[in-house]
Amino acid sequence: MDTRELLVERARAVLEHNWTGSFTKPAPSLYPHQWNWDAGFIAIGYARYAPQRALADLAHLFRGQWAHGMLPQIVFGDDPEARYFPGPDFWQTWRSPLAPRQPLTSGITMPPVHGIALWFLLQSAPDEQTGLEWIRPLFDKVVAAHRYLYQYRDPQEEGLVYIRHPWESGTDNSPVWDEPLRRIEVDRDRLPPYARQDLQNPEAARHRPTDDDYDRYVWLVDLFRRHDYDDKAIEAECPFLVQDPLFNAILAWANECLVAIGGMLGEDMRDLLEWNELTIFSINRQLWDPTQGRYAAHDLVADRLLPTHSSSALMPLIAGAPDMDQARQLLEWLDSAAFSGTPDEPAWLCPTFDMQHPDFDPERYWRGPVWVNMNWLLYHGLQRYGLGRHARRLKYDTIELLERFGFCEYFDPRKNAPVQKGYGTDHFSWSAALCIDLLAM
Ligand code: SER
Repeated sequence: MDTRELLVERARAVLEHNWTGSFTKPAPSLYPHQWNWDAGFIAIGYARYAPQRALADLAHLFRGQWAHGMLPQIVFGDDPEARYFPGPDFWQTWRSPLAPRQPLTSGITMPPVHGIALWFLLQSAPDEQTGLEWIRPLFDKVVAAHRYLYQYRDPQEEGLVYIRHPWESGTDNSPVWDEPLRRIEVDRDRLPPYARQDLQNPEAARHRPTDDDYDRYVWLVDLFRRHDYDDKAIEAECPFLVQDPLFNAILAWANECLVAIGGMLGEDMRDLLEWNELTIFSINRQLWDPTQGRYAAHDLVADRLLPTHSSSALMPLIAGAPDMDQARQLLEWLDSAAFSGTPDEPAWLCPTFDMQHPDFDPERYWRGPVWVNMNWLLYHGLQRYGLGRHARRLKYDTIELLERFGFCEYFDPRKNAPVQKGYGTDHFSWSAALCIDLLAM
């Protein structure tokens, strides 16, 4: 067996270990329930060798879908030993008539990668008919999740959906969110009491979000609970409403996948086509920052582009949104010291935050480390623009990180970091799943 085959073997073992019998956990103990976008990325890995497992996993996730279509960020399993904060008792989603009674879920959503996962499942099928039969039961549910986003998260009907919690971005403690989060003044005496469960290992305090971040995360959940998860009431009061280029780019790529699948299924896809046209238009009209030559997040509360940019600013490439000139500017930024390092400080592609920025932190969660899902997305964005050399470098850097340090959650982007290792949890499912997919390409 060569080293690549061995890596695939090890990756499959990670997924097997995290399979509970009804869903795949993102990691053995840090994330002991089912997560929304994790399940999408995990399905893309399973599609390569165990499509039925992918379908079962996604079917479990969609059991948590709310009546108006929202696909929750977490679907809780029923293991009484699973320690996680915030759990179902904290979310109290039973306050909403729209939330399922079983399984219990969180009360927010996450980037909608599932249309993309369906597309990869279809591609992996022995023939089109079989593939369509596989994904048919999930198709309407994924479309309903997109419909929810356009109906409830796009108040100006401009094709851009907002997130209302940093956990909805998937990039929880990105420095981009610092500015809108500062708007929240936390009065600790009035904050519901809570205990973090994510600081079990001795290094976690350095690698995870801070307590100040968590206070704000909890403050927002408390606001949602008090409004019984009513979208309109939350929107009227929420100090954090942001149109994220990553979330909207994923939405647009997933729209495109759903339109293609819907065509094969003989479905009327006019709504989705119209939404998507508007989304692509608005990503360029509203989220392009011409002074910087890259995309930015739009703060709906202050009605302005946020001044800080993460690697999410490159992601409209996955949706084919930038024209060739915009794509060239994004590529220049990717090639710059921000992401590619310098001869003295070489970098693994792709840091999630600008290495030259004072807020860059190579060890702390979404403030700089390399994440495999972001590399996988960017790989596809670069391929879409015919940028094969860059895409290959991204792929080989990803594989090398996984070979050297194992299936960790995130990685120090500095090639000459004093200690060479991965961070967060190990046995991380999407690192394993997307490794399987990258090596099969
Ligand atoms: N990433 C979050 C956590 O750290 C949940 O979505 O728990």
